[in-house]
Amino acid sequence: MNTTDTITFWDGVYAARPAVTDPRPNDRLTETVTGLPPGEALDLGCGDGGDALWLARRGWHVTAVDISAVAVGRLTGLVRSRGLQAQVAALRHDLHDAFPQGRFDLICAHYLHTPFELDRATVLRAAADALRPGGRLLVVDHGSTAPWSWNQDPDARYPTPRQVAAGLDLDPATWTIERADTPRRIATGPGGRTAEVTDHVLLIRRTT
Ligand SMILES: C[S@@+](CC[C@H](N)C(=O)[O-])C[C@H]1O[C@@H](n2cnc3c(N)ncnc32)[C@H](O)[C@@H]1O
Repeated sequence: MNTTDTITFWDGVYAARPAVTDPRPNDRLTETVTGLPPGEALDLGCGDGGDALWLARRGWHVTAVDISAVAVGRLTGLVRSRGLQAQVAALRHDLHDAFPQGRFDLICAHYLHTPFELDRATVLRAAADALRPGGRLLVVDHGSTAPWSWNQDPDARYPTPRQVAAGLDLDPATWTIERADTPRRIATGPGGRTAEVTDHVLLIRRTT
């Protein structure tokens, strides 16, 4: 598979469903960030942009990247319509090619799963390196398959948060794991359908 296939796939995922006019933030983001002072954030694989918009409304400056031009175009429209251009930069970016420039107080990667080649450990390790001292990396992965997921592979295996952390090979003198657990929640999918799903949550803080 090459980059064209990846773009075609993800553009197709977004184009196949109507644009979300008011995308919701992810629960793990809101529970993690509420109470933190705003700073500079990077959202990896931002999708509809619910997280970026929520952060911006709370004073964060957000760089939101995604490989899908459809997703980025829709988010750019929402940013404009809400007058948040000074706070959100939505960029088409392939994390397989390079990591975005900059240093950040918060980097989040929610459900950054793809059927195409993406060395997640390299991406997430670069994210840990791109944190400012005191900054946090929030990685939220699927721990189960929602009935409406694009991925209905019955053999899908989801690494635990501790396994994800081990793959980053972080020096404990510089990074500390603040959270590594597997909470459940009721998720809402297309058409308002609901199901209980498991999240794999990893929160890392850069201490120096
Ligand atoms: C399962 S969706 C999650 C979207 C969003 N974070 C959320 O919580 O709803 C995964 C996202 O990663 C993006 N993505 C996949 N591969 C990528 C890559 N190589 N570089 C950047 N984004 C990528 C997809 O376009 C998609 O928006």
